[in-house]
Amino acid sequence: MKLYILNGPNLNFLGIREPAHYGSTTYAQLLEMIGTHCKEKGIEAVCRQSNHEGTLVDLIQEAYLEGADGIVINPGAYTHTSIALLDAVKSVMLPTVEVHISKVEEREDFRQVSYIRTACVKTITGHGVAGYLEAIDYLLDTVGERQ
Ligand code: DQA
Repeated sequence: MKLYILNGPNLNFLGIREPAHYGSTTYAQLLEMIGTHCKEKGIEAVCRQSNHEGTLVDLIQEAYLEGADGIVINPGAYTHTSIALLDAVKSVMLPTVEVHISKVEEREDFRQVSYIRTACVKTITGHGVAGYLEAIDYLLDTVGERQ
């Protein structure tokens, strides 16, 4: 099984940015956690981060072209603005899980909108970086059933 794990803007600053919301785990540590978890489960994980909306669209298309079985994505602030990311997920038709480290539903009004959510099979919020591993496990458990 092959999964693309995508992170949007400012998530490369994990551990530095607003620890009260996003915790103290760095992006490098997150990658290590995901790598260890996926190795244990026999999953090939392709992890990418970009601060640019178009690059994230390219990466979603790449997941399809490279034969990925699913996508885990934390689109960062593009969650709340990007129809392009919604359309990209709809285009590739890969099972996609939306992850947010913080509990977005308890934050500002502008964070209550998620364009990408309607195209996702699941949303995980407020579980910190553990949410990425939950998303991976969810896809591992459910993707086989879809094929
Ligand atoms: C976030 C929540 C978004 O509102 C914010 O813009 C982020 C991170 C999260 O992981 O909680 O960049 O997606």
